[in-house]
Amino acid sequence: MSPSAAATIDQTAAAQSRSWPRSTSAATPLLARFHEVRDFTNELCAGLAPEDHVVQSMPEVSPTKWHLAHTTWFFETFILKKWLSRYRAVVPEYAYLFNSYYNAAGDMHRRDLRGLISRPTVEETQRYRASIDACIDDLILESDEKLFREIEPILTLGIHHEQQHQELLITDIKHVFAQNPLHPVFRENVARVSNLPTAGEGKFETCSTMRFIEFDETTVEIGHDGPGFSYDNEGPRHPALVPAFSLASRPVTNGEFIAFIEAGGYHRPEFWLSLGWNTVNEQRWQAPLYWTKRDSRWWNFTLSGFRRVDKNEPVTHISYFEADAYANWAGARLPTEFEWERAAADLAIDGNFVEKKRFHPQAATAQEDRHLACPDRQASSPSQHSASLPGGLVQMFGDVWEWTRSAYSPYPGYHAGPGALGEYNGKFMCNQYVLRGGSCATSRTHIRKTYRNFFQPDKRWQFTGIRLAHDPA
Ligand SMILES: [Fe+2]
Repeated sequence: MSPSAAATIDQTAAAQSRSWPRSTSAATPLLARFHEVRDFTNELCAGLAPEDHVVQSMPEVSPTKWHLAHTTWFFETFILKKWLSRYRAVVPEYAYLFNSYYNAAGDMHRRDLRGLISRPTVEETQRYRASIDACIDDLILESDEKLFREIEPILTLGIHHEQQHQELLITDIKHVFAQNPLHPVFRENVARVSNLPTAGEGKFETCSTMRFIEFDETTVEIGHDGPGFSYDNEGPRHPALVPAFSLASRPVTNGEFIAFIEAGGYHRPEFWLSLGWNTVNEQRWQAPLYWTKRDSRWWNFTLSGFRRVDKNEPVTHISYFEADAYANWAGARLPTEFEWERAAADLAIDGNFVEKKRFHPQAATAQEDRHLACPDRQASSPSQHSASLPGGLVQMFGDVWEWTRSAYSPYPGYHAGPGALGEYNGKFMCNQYVLRGGSCATSRTHIRKTYRNFFQPDKRWQFTGIRLAHDPA
């Protein structure tokens, strides 16, 4: 049993030891899960000073304190105010301060001004969290089976919503710390440097050869179906024709991306989308976010501090524009989300997720390399390149979100639900691209093969990376 698995079981046992005499059999594990996820949010904040909690380093970044309060507001607004008749908000103004974008839930404070809000304090915010958690406990404990079945899907949604914000909390505090010349450390020595051989400057060798796994044309079922939680944007499940393609065995590494930089990639418009070229010039991008060149060597800021770029790690903090330009330079393209989902269909969901507490992408391991020991692409039959074979595709889950070339659009038959919660996903289906697979800041218990993350093409403060694809030769 891994240390992280043991910790999970211990937390669950501790939560189940709380006394909930009137709870239904289904309520107990869900409440335990609720507390486990809420506790992990607090654990992420361990070591942060109050001053760290309040900084907003750019409009897209929210202060840590806001994440703590907003996730709490979600449970208060969509559960307590609806189902706990005696509930009265202690501070009604929180409804305005901590609503993010739900127009049907009322007016909201401006997103880009969240860093100006010094009150409530961090301590008051933690008290807000504790009070709402206690009310959730009371409500669930007092619920009969019928009421619990009404609340259950919203409580489950709130738990997944909190996990989404845990990832944002991590990427946001990284952006906040990156602005500080003191290079604050979020977690000491967890973003370890690859133990694989590191080549000298200018003589880089990849940690493993990038191979391309071939897939035949077929019609596949895309999207979530069956039991278990999913977001509404993952459905309806539907057939999709996926023409033949090949997919890279692993993500693009830092070393490979350095080759793109050294080839003048950021200065050659022929590789870039028009909007991307405009953005590169306006923003003066020369490298991935958090990279700095010192004495002819690349350094990057990580959640374990400032350190040399590890050439074996997957490149990350890349915009869609950069991912697309790299693919063009490499003579490849980005996969569609349908190709990605088809390729992932037979793979186990395993990888460098937040539970491993590394908070940084890791280089492919030597064990994974051994699975890729074919001498060359022609030496193996097509059947040997099946994605379902161990090691055929590595790092599909965890490490870095993989940009796809698919616009974030509704699946056939999709309709956003009624009311405020119908605003969760559907209204963002414009001008964004889909990312797949999760990252080192994503919870293993949050990701699915059908999970559709989405960001605008110029955004790069998430742990985003590149996996290449090819059309048939
Ligand atoms: Fe949210």
